[in-house]
Amino acid sequence: MAFDIKISPSGHHCQSQDGETVLEAALNAGFLLPYNCRNGTCGACKGKVLSGKIDPGRAMDSVLLPSEREAGEALFCCATPLSDLTIECREFEAPGEIKVKQLLSKVKRMYVAAPDVMVVQLELAASKRLQFLAGQYVDILLDDGQRRAFSLATAPHDDEILELHIRRMPGGQFTGHVFEELRVRDSLKIEGPFGNFYLRETSEAKPDQPIIMIAGGTGFAPVKSMVEHAIHRKLQRSITIYWGARNADGLYMHDLALDWAAEHENIRYIPVVSEPGAGDDWRGRTGMVHQAVLDDFADLSGSDVYLCGSEQMTIAARRDFVKRGLPETHLYCDVFCSARQLVLTE
Ligand SMILES: Cc1cc2nc3c(=O)[nH]c(=O)nc-3n(C[C@H](O)[C@H](O)[C@H](O)COP(=O)(O)OP(=O)(O)OC[C@H]3O[C@@H](n4cnc5c(N)ncnc54)[C@H](O)[C@@H]3O)c2cc1C
Ligand code: FES
Repeated sequence: MAFDIKISPSGHHCQSQDGETVLEAALNAGFLLPYNCRNGTCGACKGKVLSGKIDPGRAMDSVLLPSEREAGEALFCCATPLSDLTIECREFEAPGEIKVKQLLSKVKRMYVAAPDVMVVQLELAASKRLQFLAGQYVDILLDDGQRRAFSLATAPHDDEILELHIRRMPGGQFTGHVFEELRVRDSLKIEGPFGNFYLRETSEAKPDQPIIMIAGGTGFAPVKSMVEHAIHRKLQRSITIYWGARNADGLYMHDLALDWAAEHENIRYIPVVSEPGAGDDWRGRTGMVHQAVLDDFADLSGSDVYLCGSEQMTIAARRDFVKRGLPETHLYCDVFCSARQLVLTE
C-alpha cells in the first residue's frame, strides 16, 4: 500500500511503495536524506516521526536508544510506513553538504572493455555505503600518499557496487598498475564524493530545458551515472548523448547506450568516431565529437550542456559552444586531467 510522506522542515512530499523504507522512498523521489550503511548499524539516517505510524524494522537498541525510540525517533533506512507520515530530518541541497568519506573497497569484478579501458567494479564492506550525486567522482588513495581521480559510473540508487572506467595513460603510474597488477579481491582505498559535475534534475532556466551530454572516451563514466539516474527518476527532459572516441572499440558500452535510446523516447544517442579503423566497418558519424554537436545545433542558448573528457576536447567545446549562444551558467564540465599533469603545469 502506498503512503504519503511529508518531510519537515523542507515541506517536500514523496510516496512510499509497498515495503519501501522511508529512506528508499525519499531517495527515489530525489530527496537527499543522509545515510551511510543502509542497514541499521551507523545511525546516519536517524530522524523523527512527527505524525503517523511506522514499522521500525531491524533498528538495534545500540544505534537507536530506547529513549530515542520513545521520543519518536527512527532509523529511516529500516523504518517502513504503516500510514501517511510527517517526518523531521535534515536534507542535503548541495554536493558540498554530503560528507566526504575515506572507505576501503575491494575489487569485485574487472574486465577489459576496450584495449585501453578497464571497467573496475568495487565493493564496500557490508555496513558501508558511499552517498554521492550522479556524475561525481572519487579519489583513489595510493600507498605513497598520491591520489588519482575517477568518476563514478554507477547511479546513486545503485550503490552496492561502485563502477569506474579507467583509461590507461601511457606511462601512467596508477592506470598502468590497474592493467598490469590489479586483481579481483585486491583492496583500494577511496575518498569521496567530490565535484560539482552532477545532474541538475531541474534546470535553472526552465524545468524541462533539453539536456545535451558530451563524453570523450572514458568521459562516458559520469554520463552513464547521470543517464541511469535520470532513467531511475523517470526524468522526462530530452537528453541527447554524444559519445566520441578515436575508433569504434573506444565506444566500449555502445550497446548499452543504444538500449537507452531504444527504450526511452526522451533519450537520443549519437556516437562519433574520429579515426575509424579500416576493419571497423563504421557507418556512423565521424569527426570530432564537439563538432558533431555544432553541426546539429545552430543555437545552444536553450540547452543545458554536460561536457566531460580530455582537456583538449573540453577547452575547444567550451569556446565554440559559448559562441553558439550557450550561457556559461548552463555549461557543466569535468576535465579529465591527471594529478601529475596538474603538478607539471602549475
Ligand atoms: C575529476 C576527474 C575525474 C576523472 N575521471 C576519470 C575517469 O572516470 N576515467 C579515466 O580514465 N580518467 C579519469 N580522470 C583522469 C585520471 O585521473 C588520470 O588519467 C589518472 O590520474 C592518471 O593516473 P596515472 O597514475 O596512471 O598517471 P600519472 O602517473 O599521473 O601520469 C599521467 C601522465 O603524465 C605523464 N607523466 C608522468 N610523470 C611525468 C613527468 N615527470 N614528466 C612528463 N610527463 C609525466 C605520464 O606519462 C602520463 O601520460 C579524471 C580526472 C579528473 C580530474
Ligand atoms: S543508514 Fe546507517 S543506520 Fe540507517
